[in-house]
Amino acid sequence: MTAATSHHARMALRRAADRARMAPSIHNTQPWRMEIDGDALVLSLDPERLVPAIDPHARQSWISCGCALFNARASLAGEDTGYRISRFPEGENSLVFARLEVLGALDLDEDERAARGTLREIAATIPLRRTNRTRFTEDEISTGFLARLSAAALVEGAILTAVHREEHREVVARLTRRADARQFGNPAFRAELRNWSTDDPDRPDGVPAIAVPKVDGSTVDEIPLRDFDSHGHGRLPADVHSTRHQTMMLLGTDGDSRSDWLRAGEALEHVFLEIARFGYATSPIMQALELPETRSEFRRELGLNFYPQFLFRIGRAGATAPVPRRDLQDFLHEDHLTGH
Ligand SMILES: Cc1cc2nc3c(=O)[nH]c(=O)nc-3n(C[C@H](O)[C@H](O)[C@H](O)COP(=O)(O)O)c2cc1C
Repeated sequence: MTAATSHHARMALRRAADRARMAPSIHNTQPWRMEIDGDALVLSLDPERLVPAIDPHARQSWISCGCALFNARASLAGEDTGYRISRFPEGENSLVFARLEVLGALDLDEDERAARGTLREIAATIPLRRTNRTRFTEDEISTGFLARLSAAALVEGAILTAVHREEHREVVARLTRRADARQFGNPAFRAELRNWSTDDPDRPDGVPAIAVPKVDGSTVDEIPLRDFDSHGHGRLPADVHSTRHQTMMLLGTDGDSRSDWLRAGEALEHVFLEIARFGYATSPIMQALELPETRSEFRRELGLNFYPQFLFRIGRAGATAPVPRRDLQDFLHEDHLTGH
């Protein structure tokens, strides 16, 4: 590869890392490290940014890493940079979850070219996507759009389905309330959540008060959004009106390994960007999937033949402010010896 190509590669990889950092992550922990190694971007899970009381197997941290990986892929595809991806290049027990190597020339087969075209279209939405914890309107979401979202998940190797049936919605409501109450009865859980919630506008990570509803006991949601231990400091309106009648979607995978979680994250971010691209809002409802016992019950009562990885509501809502991220230099290491 020539010096000029290498410079091009480095700039493309920096932009990919910059897009990756905008990914959603559990409690905005941003649990990743990245390195530019020659013409490759190497992405790893950062074990110092895990939340073991909330996420004991790091499943949601791996999902978050998958979201970051999708953004990096979309960024490279969006600017027509040829790249080769290997997931878990050092095996599934390693923290290194992907290596994206920029190629000198594009040498793609037809399928790869088609997949890239779609990625390019949605890459532009990355800075606009947000988690929206406000009240959603009652508008119905067309089945055509929901099918489009399921297709986006399928491309990434995951299953996405709407929770349609009334009895399943009741199960979601019941298990979410039960898990939420149990979690808040656990001091280790509460302490960890407090560590990753903040009202400091200068903090580059954690869930900030500007992004969460005020919790003052004035409204009781049938499906509670997580109370980010805001003690009434939340800046969004208290009335979220989260009920079992909202449109809820469930993302799942055939297996339940690290590779499946990473895939789930890639699928999730692909779906989230499609949702944002078409002007819809979304926010996770994760409590029931966090406790092993409620997750098993969820799987059993909904009769799922796959592993539930992520549950979220989707609708129309007013705009919300962006949530901070760490600077690139805080997590990206560059091997300057190979720089030009
Ligand atoms: C794996 C995962 C789990 C999440 N769990 C929740 C949750 O339980 N409740 C919630 O309100 N937001 C949840 N979020 C959203 C994050 O808090 C959000 O992505 C982060 O604060 C950054 O904000 P942004 O999405 O607006 O950029 C989750 C996100 C991910 C990727």
